Amino acid sequence: MYNSISAEVYNLDKPIGSSFGDVEYYSSRLSRVKGRILEPAVGTGRILIPLLEKGYTVDGFDLSEEMLDYCRDNLKKAYKEANVFRADMETFQSEQLYEAIIIPTGTFLLISDEEKAFNIISNFYNHLESDGRIIIDIFLPTDFVEGKSTYRTFSNTQGDLITFQITESEINYIEQTTISHHRYDKWKEGKCIESEFEVFKLKWYGVKEFKRLLMQIGFKDIVISADYKYKQYPTNPNQVITFEAVK
Ligand SMILES: C[S@@+](CC[C@H](N)C(=O)[O-])C[C@H]1O[C@@H](n2cnc3c(N)ncnc32)[C@H](O)[C@@H]1O
Repeated sequence: MYNSISAEVYNLDKPIGSSFGDVEYYSSRLSRVKGRILEPAVGTGRILIPLLEKGYTVDGFDLSEEMLDYCRDNLKKAYKEANVFRADMETFQSEQLYEAIIIPTGTFLLISDEEKAFNIISNFYNHLESDGRIIIDIFLPTDFVEGKSTYRTFSNTQGDLITFQITESEINYIEQTTISHHRYDKWKEGKCIESEFEVFKLKWYGVKEFKRLLMQIGFKDIVISADYKYKQYPTNPNQVITFEAVK
């Protein structure tokens, strides 16, 4: 996942400077943090770079070398430096403790099952300083329709056309998972020069279920917010739900 064309599309579609409200929200919620912040699954640096620009010290890691290449390039363009490295949320280990660990944009839904989710968040708990905090977003796949196909196009800096087809293939209400099939094709002068296929699985959580998961791990002072409005409890299933919890 997030291989060469999909990383390119992510960077074209959501360049540094783009926000779903998350950039402003995370930046404001972190205002009392003076120490190091970690962003697992940092991607292209879309959140990391604005946080660095606000004066925060942020490390980031990602599983995808291609996303990290864009992140390093975006850092250079922003004249910023940060410790960004390749690691997997499932096996991440470091001597460093963090004052905050953040996972915006529903990225956590990419973790395929609950046992892995539990182990990953427990591991993040162990990488927090005492009184450190985790801030993490989830969402519900309310607009998923089995069989729906959507199609988008992009042009890259070399003038190539990229077509991107998303097919919403399966929703499993028992396992709380969705599977979509992604197809990317890159076209130069009317010829398809590269294609990429991706099986995109998301695993969702209920609001109280996720709160229990955090409590089981030992987190306290859990605050639930909707659509990046602090302490506004969700009222609508389409909202992004943010959990903030203290070690
Ligand atoms: C939706 S992007 C989000 C990037 C960035 N956080 C942002 O908000 O723009 C999801 C990222 O998660 C990364 N990722 C997926 N599974 C991962 C894992 N197990 N460990 C580390 N990174 C992972 C992908 O490579 C991708 O860069």
